[in-house]
Amino acid sequence: MSESARDLARKLLSGSGNGVKPPVPATRGAGAAAAPPPSAARAGHTRPARGPGRQFADHPEVASTVAKQAAIAAISAQSGLANPLFLPRNSPNDTVIRALDSELVNFSAYNYLGLSSHPRVVRAAKDALDQYGASASASRIVSGEIPLYGEIEQRLAGIYGVGDAMVTTSGYLTNAGVIGFLLREGDVAFCDSLIHGSVVSGTQWAGCRRINFRHNDPESLRSVLRMSRSGFDRAMVVLEGHYSMDGTVGRVAELAAIAREFDCAVMVDEAHSFGVFGARGHGIREHYDMAGTDVDIWMGTLSKALGSVGGFIAADADLIAAMKASAPGVAMLTGAPAPSAIGAALAGLDVLEAEPERVSRLWDNARLFDTALRDRDLDLGESHGTPIVPVIVPGEIRAGFVSGTLLRRGVYAGAISAPAVPVGKERLRFFITSEHTGAQLVSAADLLAETIELAGNLPTSAVPA
Ligand SMILES: Cc1ncc(COP(=O)(O)O)c(C=O)c1O
Repeated sequence: MSESARDLARKLLSGSGNGVKPPVPATRGAGAAAAPPPSAARAGHTRPARGPGRQFADHPEVASTVAKQAAIAAISAQSGLANPLFLPRNSPNDTVIRALDSELVNFSAYNYLGLSSHPRVVRAAKDALDQYGASASASRIVSGEIPLYGEIEQRLAGIYGVGDAMVTTSGYLTNAGVIGFLLREGDVAFCDSLIHGSVVSGTQWAGCRRINFRHNDPESLRSVLRMSRSGFDRAMVVLEGHYSMDGTVGRVAELAAIAREFDCAVMVDEAHSFGVFGARGHGIREHYDMAGTDVDIWMGTLSKALGSVGGFIAADADLIAAMKASAPGVAMLTGAPAPSAIGAALAGLDVLEAEPERVSRLWDNARLFDTALRDRDLDLGESHGTPIVPVIVPGEIRAGFVSGTLLRRGVYAGAISAPAVPVGKERLRFFITSEHTGAQLVSAADLLAETIELAGNLPTSAVPA
């Protein structure tokens, strides 16, 4: 280990010797709280008095999250590493961002095709803003339609080869709301074990049973269905096209066919596969050359490859009509998507159509990065050259150290720890885009390999909450 590395490790480790819990910044799953004031650092150890406005001060989730965030902030400050959580940024979320008073090469954004700041996308958002205002100001059923909704929905239905589509304000709420609307007590969702939390929320909302099968494993799905299908009324198998923590490619065609054998509906989350898979970026259906009707509900987001924000589903026309009128959280009891978000997403679709080479560039970059990391003997989990690249760095402290150190060296990639991933499988997650350059990818691989080696002297434990 070099002298500077030893210094760094010593600085980092010295936190445990002076009463501050050891490091460091690792992005927890969705829902991590903002950095609290320093006094909250002790919330997990003392029991703060409840009182007006403080009823949740000793709530286990609140207290441990607040304590952990404070510990991370304190250790980051003490060790001289930047805290990558809630990093203040002064630029679009492109391959190079402006943060910490410098330029950083960015791997933390699922802006796969570089569309979020594409001039056509930004122009379309501004045009929609000028024409229709900043907000939809109500739900569509009570306050009417603007042509942008119908236009994007027709295009999405056409892309998926199904009867109709609907756009929503949020991908998360789309999963939660659709499952919450369609399933109920007595029904069941058979979910891939790595399914996104929004699907889990949907099953809780629905009050149905959720039964997991082994990740991406057709035999596991078959045996779970054989054992359990007959005990329920309606059943839905829920899959993803491209798994967000592991970069694995969903075996959607095989799994959907098995689901059909057992009279189950199929829902596929295309959050990270639309705009990414298929020669035209039309998603996992194009990748496997499936018929649109092989799946009952295609769900996606406008927030990732399309460079905007919001969710969508594409499905049978009656199903969409019912959800547009009645599904809470996606249509009813919630506002319609902002016109600018839909204008931007439509322009994103236009760019995708006009420049499919963005998709092939994305995959060239993903393969290049995969090769560079494997050449440096890094552990990429189950991924194989996909644009989501998990680099396994066991231990929350180590993963956080690697992320914080990379940040200081000009590379931004978030660390992920439990509960978003299993303990011992902590990782840095890199999102590759079509806009990264070869030089950026190779240089990041070098820095990453070097930093992971440095982290070898750190404990593999978690940041205590
Ligand atoms: C697989 C998956 N589904 C759904 C969502 C939610 O999408 P949104 O960010 O549009 O709410 C995400 C978010 O990252 C995701 O990874």
